[in-house]
Amino acid sequence: MSHPPLDARLEAVLSLICADTHADIGSDHAHLPIRLIWEGRIGRGVIVELNPGPLALARRNVVRARLEGVLEVREGDGFDPLAPGEVESASVTGMGAGTIAGILRRAGERRPPALVLQPNDSPAPIRVWAREHGYHLRAERLIPGYWPYPVLRLEQAGGEDPAYAGLPLAAALRYGPHLLREGSPVLRRQVWADVVRLTPLAAPGRTAQTELETAQAALEVLGGNGQ
Ligand SMILES: C[S@@+](CC[C@H](N)C(=O)[O-])C[C@H]1O[C@@H](n2cnc3c(N)ncnc32)[C@H](O)[C@@H]1O
Repeated sequence: MSHPPLDARLEAVLSLICADTHADIGSDHAHLPIRLIWEGRIGRGVIVELNPGPLALARRNVVRARLEGVLEVREGDGFDPLAPGEVESASVTGMGAGTIAGILRRAGERRPPALVLQPNDSPAPIRVWAREHGYHLRAERLIPGYWPYPVLRLEQAGGEDPAYAGLPLAAALRYGPHLLREGSPVLRRQVWADVVRLTPLAAPGRTAQTELETAQAALEVLGGNGQ
């Protein structure tokens, strides 16, 4: 059987996962956990789905791939169907950052020490959540697609997250500390587009003014002209 196709965004998620036990929350088609098993990046997986359609699709694809022995599909909300300590890492991808942050907040002690997250919008709420809940940002990717898709790997760790050291905090939370240091063309285009969009809207006291200042601070880290 051929490997299920993953888009560039899920390929990036795949590359940041390596664990004996892993949970994919909100898996839908289950393509990611199937590939994780096939490539030997995980030994056993739990797939969690909230909705009946995607739940049935995940079950069907796992059976088709003949992986029922190593991939278990469970119905439920976020981390609810998992026991504390059951998995070493988890992925939550293809949802809004607010939805992902809500799932992480509700997870409590069921949350594993490593998380790979791919929100479909600004990951700032997830970076804020991570700093408040003892997770350090270990890796970030920004994948070109319909829009630039951020992918974050978080690991539980004590103390201040060193990723933010020496960077303007608002800009690092908005654009990503690793991404800012790396300065990829995708990020440069994103920051520059923000500056162009926000400049006519900015005025003292307006949100657009604060956002413009954040984008300008990011441009400075990127070395002046973001283009
Ligand atoms: C847009 S799809 C993303 C599928 C896949 N993760 C991806 O990145 O291609 C979001 C999936 O998450 C599921 N979902 C949404 N909220 C959930 C929750 N609280 N717990 C479990 N699954 C959830 C939905 O049913 C849907 O199948």
